[in-house]
Amino acid sequence: MRKPIIAGNWKMFKTRDEALQFILAVANKLPSKAYVDSVICSQFTVLRCLVQRQGENLRIGAQNMHFEDSGAFTGEVSGLMLKSIEVEYVIIGHSERRAMFNETDETINKKLHKAFEVGLTPILCVGEALETREANKVEEWLENQVTLDLAGLTKEQVKELVIAYEPIWAIGTGKTATADVADETCGFIRKMVEKLYDKETAEAIRIQYGGSVKTSNIDELMSKPNIDGALIGGASLKADDFVTLVNAAVK
Ligand code: PGA
Repeated sequence: MRKPIIAGNWKMFKTRDEALQFILAVANKLPSKAYVDSVICSQFTVLRCLVQRQGENLRIGAQNMHFEDSGAFTGEVSGLMLKSIEVEYVIIGHSERRAMFNETDETINKKLHKAFEVGLTPILCVGEALETREANKVEEWLENQVTLDLAGLTKEQVKELVIAYEPIWAIGTGKTATADVADETCGFIRKMVEKLYDKETAEAIRIQYGGSVKTSNIDELMSKPNIDGALIGGASLKADDFVTLVNAAVK
């Protein structure tokens, strides 16, 4: 049995005061980590203040990292630095970063290797654009993306990895993939992992769905066998909604 994982992706939202208000509001309302992993991935400036107040039932993640430990990379933050302030997760390859900040499968692969090396748990985002789905090429697209992104990772690493299947057309648009489409595509990714590794690895890896997940659709998504959780943008910004979303994963 895979433990569900619900992760909030705050993107470039929340000042320090807003982040503190959130964490105080969710404290003691989240279920035990024995049943679900709940994670908030915030922007860099509030990571440390969240880590200091997180409590046992909430883990903290970043939304990006550089693949070098240090160097002349103005404006970047390394995985090693995140680890040094006790961050535990990092989102890698979000479609907004792929589209707006020139992330490629090659840099994403390097980041995954580095995240494991320094002891962070990566949440790798993959997913297709609307044209790809309309052209019936989703499997081809994901096959290529997953193969390139995972290149060279060991079976043990992939078992620890979290993959978020996020169709680009469903992010922030209010259009969710139907639970059946989300389940089928997450199932396809699991089969890909089996092909690249083996059945044991495919059964261990946790695959989330992301894209307009909210309190009104989480129950149906979580009822599907191949969906092990969700990566949630907009709806994770409200403390009450986040608590509801995490609780939905343990029903
Ligand atoms: P959304 O974002 O829930 O606001 O659609 C999801 C994401 O980008 O991870």
